Order: sequence, then structure tokens, then C-alpha cells
Amino acid sequence: MSSALLIENLVKRFAAGKPAVDGVNFDVPAGEIVVLLGPSGCGKTTTLRCVAGLEHPTGGRISIGGRVVSEPERNLLVSPRERDIGMVFQSYAVWPHMTVRQNVAYPLKHRRGNGGGNIESKVLETLELVGLRDYADRPVTSLSGGQMQRVALARSLVYRPQLLLLDEPLSNLDAKLRIRLRDELRRILKQTGMTGLYVTHDQAEAVVLGDRIGVMREGKLLQMAPPGEIYNRPADSFVANFTGASNFLLGKVLERQGERATIDLGAAGRIEAWTPQPLSPGDRARVALRAENIRLGERGPANSFTGRVVERRYQGMQTVYDVEFGGQKLEVLELGTAARHQDGDVALTLPPDTCWAYRDEGQSAID
Ligand SMILES: Nc1ncnc2c1ncn2[C@@H]1O[C@H](COP(=O)(O)OP(=O)(O)OP(=O)(O)O)[C@@H](O)[C@H]1O
Ligand SMILES: [Mg+2]
Repeated sequence: MSSALLIENLVKRFAAGKPAVDGVNFDVPAGEIVVLLGPSGCGKTTTLRCVAGLEHPTGGRISIGGRVVSEPERNLLVSPRERDIGMVFQSYAVWPHMTVRQNVAYPLKHRRGNGGGNIESKVLETLELVGLRDYADRPVTSLSGGQMQRVALARSLVYRPQLLLLDEPLSNLDAKLRIRLRDELRRILKQTGMTGLYVTHDQAEAVVLGDRIGVMREGKLLQMAPPGEIYNRPADSFVANFTGASNFLLGKVLERQGERATIDLGAAGRIEAWTPQPLSPGDRARVALRAENIRLGERGPANSFTGRVVERRYQGMQTVYDVEFGGQKLEVLELGTAARHQDGDVALTLPPDTCWAYRDEGQSAID
């Protein structure tokens, strides 16, 4: 399948110092939704704006539908108008003096090459898709935030662009509406077979919407993979941490065979772990673990230890335990309303598949 979007070695530098986007490579096959996920300032919006043509890249190449739209080395830059893309932003970009229907019809009347056909039926079909058919003749300013964002979405979908770019389109909505529109957005994009590049710092949004997720940090793309792989096989300790592996155990590599490593945790003992990195014996390592993957009160076949519960926090749906383990601290999460484990000694199993070992780059002090 051809790539609807291909980004090769993209660099964008605003001023002297670190580039905002620093050698990013990825592609979006037709019909797929790729989500760029990362903390504030990591370069997500800049990447998206380079694709849109709103920002002039410093280096690299961007192709949309097999056509190069930006390649500074060759002085090549196609204007945003000629890129056949749709865009939805955080702010509801709608025409305030128009009705819902007029807003959605606008691009069909004013864009070149919209494919012709019956404008009225295209507008109604798209309003149906976003659940606003009954609102067609309302002034757009009389709508709620969520409804206005649907109008903005309909306006970008109505002319069926080759590529839809979305930059945190749900961030201005309240929490409940955000979840509803997030789930609906997935349905709408899949129903239209739209190819999309979606930017967010919200993990849940990334998981629901993305066929693949690209995690960015400081202008670099650290990992691009399906959500399940990002969550269960993080390629990098930042990816593990950013997607919720909040526990880190520090130690030294004893041995490694392929993706299996044995780590010496000192007083806590030895632990078997999975690793994506070519660790060598003697390397300092940090082992990342999700709080919900640790088993309390259970003795497993491997990585079975004894820890000590020092604190419990009941949070309604779940209970969080602070567990001391060979001089290091673990946070363990269990679903359920009752605290199952009392303060004091407790059996502890860290399933090896859920222990991910990375080279410790000195993020924290350890001998
Ligand atoms: N027009 C600009 N001039 C100078 N620096 C800029 C400009 N736009 C962005 N930057 C810088 O580039 C870096 C990346 O910004 P960008 O907006 O792409 O981040 P982001 O990942 O979208 O963050 P957020 O989640 O906060 O929206 C930041 O350090 C930012 O300050
Ligand atoms: Mg941004």
C-alpha cells in the first residue's frame, strides 16, 4: 500500500540551539491514523505544521500521496492550498456569522478541485456522519463547544482531502465530552477511510485513535508502533515512563541473551527482564514496571520476592500500595474496593515479561 504521507529526516530549526524537530522519519499508509504523542514542547505541532505547509522546514523531505511537497535542499515548497489536506485545531475554527450548513458547504464552494457533485447532498451526508444533521440551519454560534468542533470536523471531511491533520482537537472540551467525541472520532475517521495524522499529549486519546502511535521527545521520534507494542514493549525508558510505567528499579546487568536480561538489584536480589537494548554485563540498568503488573500476595515461578507494605491509599476504584523491596520503592496498584494486604511483609511477584530493562544513562544516582 502506498504512503499517503512520507516524512524523511525532517528538521525544523527556529533559532540557534536545539531544533524543534530533529531528524524525524515516519510514514502514514493510506487509511491509517498515526498519532504523535509526547510532552509539551516536544515538536508535535511543529511537525504537523510542516506537513500542512504552515511552517517551512529546515531540512528533509515531505511527500503527500507520492508527491514531494517540501524539500528545502532543492528549494521545493508547495503552498498549503495545494497540498490537498484538511485541518482541525484545538480552537473551533468555524465562521461565526454562518449557519452550520453554510460552514460545511464553504470549502465545497471555495476550494479548487473538490470533485464537483451535489453540494447540498454532500453537506447533509457529512452532517449526518458527525451527528449534526438536525442542526443544519442553526447559527453556528448557538452550538456547544463539542458541537462546534464537529462542525469544524465536518468542514474538513466534506471535500475528502487526501490527508486530515488534527492538532489536539478535543483539548478544549470538558472531560466527559472529550471521551465521547474521542470514541466517535475514531468511528467517523474509520467510516470515511480517512488517512490521519493526529497530535496529542493525552495517552488515552492516542490509544483509542491511533493505528500506530509515535512517541516524541525533544524533537526526536523515539518509537513508532501499534498501541499494544508501545504499551507492552516500550523501546526506550522515556516511552515506558511516559506511557505509565512509573516504577524504576536500579541495578547492574549480570548477563543478557537476546531480549532476556538478568539484572542484579543489590540487596533485593536478581531479576529477570525483557530488554530491547544490547545491554552488556556490568552496564547500569533501570528496570521499568507498571504499577498494575506487579502481583502482591502471589508467588510466581520467576521474579518472586518478599517485600513490605509501608503504605496503602484507597482510591475508590483501586488501591495503591507503597512497597519496600530491598531498599527500593515500588508502587503497586490493585483494582478493587477493599485493601487486601495489611502493612508488613508480603509476597511479591514481578512477571519477567512486564519488567523492561534499559541502560541507565545516569537519570538517577546509583552505585
Ligand atoms: N514560531 C516559533 N518560534 C520559535 N520557537 C518555536 C515556534 N514554534 C514552536 N517553537 C518551539 O519549538 C518547540 C516545539 O514546539 P511545538 O509547538 O511543536 O510543541 P508541541 O509538542 O506541540 O507542544 P504542546 O503539547 O505544548 O502543544 C518548542 O520548544 C517551542 O517553543
Ligand atoms: Mg502543540
